[in-house]
Amino acid sequence: MSIQRTFSIIKPDATRRNLTGAINSKIESSGLRIIAQKRIQMSNTQASEFYKVHAERPFYNDLVSFMTSGPVVVQVLEGENAISAYREVMGATNPSMAAEGTIRKEFAENIEANSVHGSDSDENAAIEIAHFFNKDEIVG
Ligand code: CMP
Repeated sequence: MSIQRTFSIIKPDATRRNLTGAINSKIESSGLRIIAQKRIQMSNTQASEFYKVHAERPFYNDLVSFMTSGPVVVQVLEGENAISAYREVMGATNPSMAAEGTIRKEFAENIEANSVHGSDSDENAAIEIAHFFNKDEIVG
């Protein structure tokens, strides 16, 4: 067990439906701490860069337009094994496969508009956090 940090995005489908607080409540009640948070409008360049690992996938262009379709809330979460802990709280990418009680089961609209993103590894967490936050914005 170790204390880790992970990167989270509350996506446009969730901010549009005023679900930031409900999602934060699920995050906090799982024991994870929100140690940095800001609401931003992602630019096309930011979203394209953020999701560039999916550039060859058929859903890439739609995903970039969706992520720039409204405000998002970017966050740094900290806690015991934060990366896998947050993936558990989020549930499966496809909400129809997500377990009861997870954010995606409760709130996601579909596989694209799936309410939240969380890093999939320690290495990606560090890259994703650095993409959106300066060190002095993270006050654990
Ligand atoms: P996320 O965890 O942000 O990482 C990549 C995103 O691509 C994923 O959540 C979904 O929003 C989206 N995605 C993954 N698979 C598909 C798919 N088959 N069709 C549309 N969007 C997808």
